[in-house]
Amino acid sequence: MFFSPQAKETEDDLFNYKVELNKLLDIMRHGPMGVILGLRRVGKTSLLKVAYNKFKGPKAWLDGLVVRDETHMWEVLNLKIKQILLNASLKYKFKNLIRNIEIEHVKIKWIDENLEDVIRKEHVKGVLIIDEIQLLKKYGIDKWLAYIYDHLPLRVIISGSQIGIVEKMIGETKEGMKPLKGRLIRRIELKPLNFQKAQVFLIQGMEQINKRISEVEIQEVYSALGGFMGWLTYYGYYRQFYDHEYALNMVKKKAADITSDELLNLLYYTDKTYLMVLDAISNGYKNWKSIKNFLSIQHSLKLSDSSLKRRLDRLIDMSFIIKKHMVYQLSDPLLKQGLKYFFNFQN
Ligand SMILES: Nc1ncnc2c1ncn2[C@@H]1O[C@H](COP(=O)(O)OP(=O)(O)OP(=O)(O)O)[C@@H](O)[C@H]1O
Ligand SMILES: [Mg+2]
Repeated sequence: MFFSPQAKETEDDLFNYKVELNKLLDIMRHGPMGVILGLRRVGKTSLLKVAYNKFKGPKAWLDGLVVRDETHMWEVLNLKIKQILLNASLKYKFKNLIRNIEIEHVKIKWIDENLEDVIRKEHVKGVLIIDEIQLLKKYGIDKWLAYIYDHLPLRVIISGSQIGIVEKMIGETKEGMKPLKGRLIRRIELKPLNFQKAQVFLIQGMEQINKRISEVEIQEVYSALGGFMGWLTYYGYYRQFYDHEYALNMVKKKAADITSDELLNLLYYTDKTYLMVLDAISNGYKNWKSIKNFLSIQHSLKLSDSSLKRRLDRLIDMSFIIKKHMVYQLSDPLLKQGLKYFFNFQN
């Protein structure tokens, strides 16, 4: 069923991503490493889960959200590699499982050399999925990924919604050397649905719940929610119980809760001036001059060009905004709902 709100687990429930699914399975089988990039709520975890369930070899899944700190990350990574070995049904016994190593000046506790030898000798082509990888950047996971790439036949697939941060991790930007630069990382990019695809998604999803949706309703849904699979799924979910208008309002309420949490999280890493810049953009001020004017008038905030640039760049890295044809816009129109919690404006 398309309109179940959890991340999808089976191919039957997964709309649209056939090509991406096949490519992902190919990376899982033949390596060397893959990355799934996409804004929030476009279906990265769903695609990963469906592929993970279909992949029959040794595998493990790590969600960046469960990692508490750096020590915990190394512990969890060790555990996941051992899970892959267990999955591979290898009948080796070792006394020492952990050793101290240094990767690019970072000291870590990592699996014993003998274990690494086994993985190489037995060609353990296991798969490790790391979802929400951007949360692990501060602990140096990019160096570890480079180490795995160079030393072990494992296939690691990473995914994250803060596109700029993940791109910097895999060395796809021009700024300086990155640990993973030069390695082949196969890329899958997920984008919000265009109108035609969103239309098919809504019609087919409604058929699954024995309901109908009119052309006008589809247009209203798309213009309010855009092509984000997550919001469209919530709309369909609410349509099981409510009429069109009420369901649309419920999604907006839900979006206000979810996006305000995301903005609170942004605030945790930055300060309120970042939210003010978002406020400007969400009010339709799209270039430097008009953003600066708005900040000065509305928030009594005077930013130099370099301070504004720093904020805009960071907001792009964290995928709160995108830059298109030289102007800035919110990456997701419903972020506006979350901003209402911080700034009082109408609509
Ligand atoms: N291809 C799809 N077919 C049907 N439903 C989908 C699809 N992709 C995503 N969804 C639905 O959209 C919502 C968001 O999906 P998911 O959690 O997979 O996205 P995500 O990109 O990982 O989001 P986030 O960036 O928040 O982690 C879920 O309710 C999921 O069921
Ligand atoms: Mg996800």
